[in-house]
Amino acid sequence: MNILVLGGRGMLGRDLVTVLSGRSERHRVTAWDIEDVDIIDKYTVDRALGRDSFDVVVNCAAYTAVDKAEQDKETALAVNARGARNVAAAARAAGSRNVLLSTDYVFDGSKQGAYREGDEPCPANYYGYTKLMGERLTGEVDPDCLIIRTQWLYGAAGKNFVETMLKLAETNKTLSVVDDQQGSPTWTADLARAIALLVEGRCRGIYHVSNAGCTTWCGFARKIFETAQKEIEVVPITTEQFNAPARRPANSVFDMTRLLEDTGCAPPHWTEALGQYLTMRGRKDAR
Ligand SMILES: NC(=O)c1ccc[n+]([C@@H]2O[C@H](COP(=O)([O-])OP(=O)(O)OC[C@H]3O[C@@H](n4cnc5c(N)ncnc54)[C@H](OP(=O)(O)O)[C@@H]3O)[C@@H](O)[C@H]2O)c1
Repeated sequence: MNILVLGGRGMLGRDLVTVLSGRSERHRVTAWDIEDVDIIDKYTVDRALGRDSFDVVVNCAAYTAVDKAEQDKETALAVNARGARNVAAAARAAGSRNVLLSTDYVFDGSKQGAYREGDEPCPANYYGYTKLMGERLTGEVDPDCLIIRTQWLYGAAGKNFVETMLKLAETNKTLSVVDDQQGSPTWTADLARAIALLVEGRCRGIYHVSNAGCTTWCGFARKIFETAQKEIEVVPITTEQFNAPARRPANSVFDMTRLLEDTGCAPPHWTEALGQYLTMRGRKDAR
C-alpha cells in the first residue's frame, strides 16, 4: 500500500513509519509533519493529498500539550478538530482511506471497569474535548474511517514519562508520583504494530489499543526504576496534590476485545514492553 503518515516526525509517527516500512507487505511510506503540511490550512491539505494517490492516510498530527490546551484553546481546537476534518475530507476526496489517532481523555474516567469502544464519551479535559470533536468531524466526512484511541504513550522519539523519570533520577533520590489514576503505559512501537494490522486488515470504526495490563503513574515510575536498576524512592501522592492544570481521568483502562477479535493482535503486557524499550535505549543496565 501507498501510506502517508501525518505527524510523521512525532513520537508515534516515527515508530509507525519504521514499522510500516519493515512489513512484509512492502508498503511505500511517506512521512509529513507540520513543516510539509500544516493540517490547519485546508487549501494546502487539499492540494497535498490530491497530488499523490495514497491508499491510506494515517493522521498522527495533533496538538498534544494537554495542560497548555486549557489556556491555548483556539490552537488546540484548530489542530485536533478542524485539522482532523481537513485531513479526512481531503483524503476522502482523493479516494484514500482515513485513520485518525485519538485518546483515552475522551472519557472522564468514572467507569468501573475497562472502557469499550461503544461507551459514551465525556471528555476529561479540553484536549480530550478537541480530540472527540476530531473523531466526530472525521466520522461525519468519512463514515468509513478508522479511529484508534490510545493512552499513556512513550517512545524513543519524544518527550514522555519514562524519559522524564530517568532524567529526574539523575538529580533526585526521592520523587512524588500520582497514585490514584489507573491506565496502561503503551510503547509506541507496539502501538505501531497494532496500527499496521488494523490498516492491513482494512478495519473501520473505533478501536482501543494500548499495552496489556494496567498500573498507576506511581506503579509505572517504580517499575521504570526497578528495570533500569536505579535506587529511587517513589512517594505516592494524589491527583489533587499534584494539581495539574488539566483534569485527568481516574480510570483510562481499555477493553481490547475488538482489536483481538478483528486482527488477532494481543499487545504485550506493559512491563514486558517497558523492559524491551529500556533495553533498546541502552538504559537497563546503566547505574
Ligand atoms: N502522547 C500520548 O501519551 C498520547 C496519548 C493518547 C493519544 N495520543 C494521540 O496519539 C497521536 C500521536 O501522539 P504523539 O505523542 O506522537 O504526539 P507528538 O509527538 O506531539 O506528535 C504530533 C506531531 O504532530 C505535529 N503537528 C502539530 N500541529 C500540527 C499541524 N498543525 N499540522 C501538522 N502537524 C502538526 C507535531 O509537530 P510539533 O512537534 O512541531 O508541534 C508533532 O510532530 C496524537 O493524535 C495524540 O493525540 C497521544
